Amino acid sequence: MSLRGKDEILKQLMMSGGTPVSGQDMADRMGVSRTAVWKYIKELESDGYQIGSVRKKGYYLLDTPDIVNAAAIQRHLKTNNYGRHIQYYESCPTTQSIAHEEAQNGASDGTLIIAEEQTAGKGRMSRPWSSSARKGIWMSLIIRPSLMPQQAPQMTLVAAVAIVRAMEEVADVQPTIKWPNDILINGKKMTGILTELQADMDRVKAIILGMGINANQEETDFSDELREIATSLHLVTGEKVDRSRLVAAILYYLELYTKMYEKNGFAPIKLLWESYSNTVGKRVRAVMLNETIEGTAIGISDEGLLELRLDDGSIRGIYSADIQMAK
Ligand code: BTN
Repeated sequence: MSLRGKDEILKQLMMSGGTPVSGQDMADRMGVSRTAVWKYIKELESDGYQIGSVRKKGYYLLDTPDIVNAAAIQRHLKTNNYGRHIQYYESCPTTQSIAHEEAQNGASDGTLIIAEEQTAGKGRMSRPWSSSARKGIWMSLIIRPSLMPQQAPQMTLVAAVAIVRAMEEVADVQPTIKWPNDILINGKKMTGILTELQADMDRVKAIILGMGINANQEETDFSDELREIATSLHLVTGEKVDRSRLVAAILYYLELYTKMYEKNGFAPIKLLWESYSNTVGKRVRAVMLNETIEGTAIGISDEGLLELRLDDGSIRGIYSADIQMAK
């Protein structure tokens, strides 16, 4: 049985907003038999959807399981391109590798790869990324902006701003950004972003924006080690987050800010980023591959580098480092 048909039925039920949709109408629209529609409905029920039926009127949706598939996300989507094509996985090693492969095979701008669980989630600097089933948002977005390869690192900052903006709207929280791309609440990490690039010398072919968001984890969902440094939206607000709604809002702000960046350059994004930053104005230690330096973070440059004023008064632009708060 094709997944497409089941998704199509689900979309029609979701779009109707609770009004019964006739089985015959759905069958006609999809060019399949009524028996096929009935089989799709049974499949949806076994996936956890609660579907009611009214004689002669049709089927309607009573309740949806908490999943982040195409139908659930697209119900909230207000974008032109981002998230209009979604590949959903119950479980996969890492959405990042799938996105790379899809991008190489020509996937369109805004294609989203999303999974309920990753068995080999990866973070920055080849660290593992804990991605437990159904609790978080584990997704990789393929975008094809008109940018030069050297402008790609700023997309990490664009993504961080878009995610914070979406969280403010959907979960009513005020996260901060630790340079370049950790999203924190109460000093604990709630989201990480992994930006990877496919490019020619003079042109970006695709950027893969990997986003890992701790949404509905309880304390017990984190390992002892992670519990010290990580948190989730649920732990902060006490509420369960509607993950599909949050994904749709993130895609909306990502599309908006990416277009803004392409058109007007980095200046407007820089302002937003600095307003959300927990790093600017603080004394920090930048741990890099070959050296560690301390200084006061004074802002980010137009290229997205973190600018530190060192004790001798000189200014250093940091391209890539682990940032720790200094005493
Ligand atoms: C970080 O180290 O802060 C970045 C974490 C990025 C995790 C996301 S989850 C979705 C995508 N797939 C992965 O394997 N990693 C990214």
